[in-house]
Amino acid sequence: MNSVATQHARVLSGMRPTGRLHLGHYHGVLKNWVELQHEYDCYFFVADWHALTTHYDDPSIIPGSVWDMVIDWLAAGVNHGESRVFIQSQVPEHAELHLLLSMITPLGWLERVPSYKDQQEKLKEKDLATYGFLGYPLLQSADILIYKAGLVPVGEDQVAHVELTREVARRFNHIYGREANFEEMAEAAVKKMGKKSAKLYTRYRKAYQEQGDSEALEAARALLETQQNITVNDRERLFGYLEGGGRIILPEPQPLLTKASRMPGLDGQKMSKSYGNTIALRDDPEVVENALRRMPTDTNRVRRNDPGDPARCPVWQFHEVYSGDDVREWVQNGCKSAGIGCIECKQPVIDAVLRELAPIQERAREFEAQPELVRNIIAEGTEAARDVAQETMAEVRHAMSLLYR
Ligand code: TRP
Ligand code: SF4
Repeated sequence: MNSVATQHARVLSGMRPTGRLHLGHYHGVLKNWVELQHEYDCYFFVADWHALTTHYDDPSIIPGSVWDMVIDWLAAGVNHGESRVFIQSQVPEHAELHLLLSMITPLGWLERVPSYKDQQEKLKEKDLATYGFLGYPLLQSADILIYKAGLVPVGEDQVAHVELTREVARRFNHIYGREANFEEMAEAAVKKMGKKSAKLYTRYRKAYQEQGDSEALEAARALLETQQNITVNDRERLFGYLEGGGRIILPEPQPLLTKASRMPGLDGQKMSKSYGNTIALRDDPEVVENALRRMPTDTNRVRRNDPGDPARCPVWQFHEVYSGDDVREWVQNGCKSAGIGCIECKQPVIDAVLRELAPIQERAREFEAQPELVRNIIAEGTEAARDVAQETMAEVRHAMSLLYR
């Protein structure tokens, strides 16, 4: 494992454009993004090419979904002042890196990714025996590596894709990080750090390579991070040299597992569009209120006088997300003793959901009213993302001998 990427602490994540988002997305992903952006250099993008891998037969729905999703991100608090928000296909460098990575990626690595067969099984009505679909996780690797992202916030289902990304990066660095005169260049870079740092680095490197001293490795990495007068390339050489490898051109990212959100749907199953049990972030308050009022409760509680059991009731799961200890206690006692009715029990949930949605919906209305603003936010984010992507591609082309000058 190398820590180049984690130390730069760039965060990258993407979402396929699925249209308007719901509370499941908000609790499972967006709240997390909003927090991360205060702490890290964040890149959030719409994975429209990934959507094409499964929707190639009906791409016309994608653009509308893209804008709807972007508005929901912004409404939920993703802040374009803090994060770069952009659309994958507007940074064509992702495709170039995907192509170049495809040269070194063994077919078996892609065929073994669990989502490959799973999704083909699940979406049986679609022909997913395509080149593009097999390459889905490699395109994702390109998305991540092109920004040298250190952390990739994802759910459990995407961890295998980040793992593949790490393997591809390792292979890339192994093949292309070995410049002919690597040792000389690394030694020259050591000297450029100045006498004191050079001596420390050499001592740490020796301690790590000869005695496996991992504290020395950490110390050397920290030392490299603080060096002001060496170039990015030299720093990468020195990271690689430290561990006995070549230059680290594409650092390995880490998955940042989002705490599994227990956002229940209106029927108590996980909230998901395919179950038809969602509350969309932009649903009208009356619609939300009605949906919650109509929610099923403990089926054993037929009459108001029957005692119930919250453990058997989807409404209780909402209380677990939205209510404090006092309300929860009131629910537990009131339900089991038939002291409260179900309508009564739902009221604090209704209030809490509406309270949560109100500021989101207000911001959404502002963005809906200013499509130009939304387009500008994306244009700005795209430009910033492209700067970084182009820089990486220059290094990648150079490493792969694709510079004809
Ligand atoms: N495959 C991801 C999903 O379905 C979306 C995605 C595409 C992504 N590229 C990415 C996520 C890069 C994280 C990093 O959710
Ligand atoms: Fe569910 Fe509340 Fe009714 Fe009990 S009182 S069954 S927890 S809605």
